[in-house]
Amino acid sequence: MDYTDKTIWITGASSGIGRALAIEYSTLNGNLILSARNEKALEETKELCSNKKNIKILILDLADHESFSQKAEEAKAFFNDIDILINNGGISQRSLVNETILSVDKKLFDINYFGTIGLTKALLPYFINRKAGHIAVTSSLTGKFGTPLRSSYAASKHALHGFFDSLRAEHHDDGINVTIVCPGFINTNVSINALDENGNKREIMDNATKNGLSANVMAQKYIKAIHKNKQEVWIGKKERIGVYIKRFFPILFSNMIRKANVT
Ligand SMILES: NC(=O)c1ccc[n+]([C@@H]2O[C@H](COP(=O)([O-])OP(=O)(O)OC[C@H]3O[C@@H](n4cnc5c(N)ncnc54)[C@H](OP(=O)(O)O)[C@@H]3O)[C@@H](O)[C@H]2O)c1
Repeated sequence: MDYTDKTIWITGASSGIGRALAIEYSTLNGNLILSARNEKALEETKELCSNKKNIKILILDLADHESFSQKAEEAKAFFNDIDILINNGGISQRSLVNETILSVDKKLFDINYFGTIGLTKALLPYFINRKAGHIAVTSSLTGKFGTPLRSSYAASKHALHGFFDSLRAEHHDDGINVTIVCPGFINTNVSINALDENGNKREIMDNATKNGLSANVMAQKYIKAIHKNKQEVWIGKKERIGVYIKRFFPILFSNMIRKANVT
């Protein structure tokens, strides 16, 4: 794989999977646009990349939907082109339905769903016009099935599947490809940054997350899926089997998932 002269815009590039994607794409010579809110952490990501002169930082808050048109213009101007948009930024949840205040449910959708589709819609006319473009989106295995403690997180990820399957169908003839990536447990700060029932940062590293797949292996598989133009992939360890159990044995699955240790 060689991404010389290809430009990849990655959201959530200040940490975890997004940072690992940036490091991996830089070894493949891609031009990179790194986005997230934390500028210092984005600079750290850049320092970890091998091809620093081809990297631009673009601060972006996925909850600030009004900023997206301007951000898309700025992103296009960096390298005069964008080939791949990786919608990876997002936030998780660890709280029970009955204890979670509604503003937390809304925040999860504002960032994970409306942030992701809003940014995509800001760039879409450009991709239609150039008759090419690849849109990747980081969903989750909880985009395939709900688990305890992740109600609106799972709902926001499920919603992404509906939206991006529709987009793929509508824009196939415009040369636009869509890859939906569903990670299982990946060793990142996701559980530390997850929201609790009152919307506070949870600050706890889950065992399941700590023992999950490494972010760099995740990134290698992610990039391969985009390269091969896969429509949907599930990446992780044994937790991926849940997708099959849910599909073929749904009652068994619901009995299992209510007792499963998901933290
Ligand atoms: N790790 C897992 O086990 C796992 C499993 C399934 C799915 N995922 C998904 O993978 C993606 C990446 O998560 P991760 O595991 O790498 O977790 P992470 O280490 O917590 O990274 C999350 C990234 O999202 C960015 N982000 C959060 N809120 C944002 C906002 N309002 N605006 C812009 N960027 C924002 C963060 O940047 P700033 O804070 O700097 O803005 C950070 O770069 C997420 O979509 C997550 O749902 C992760």
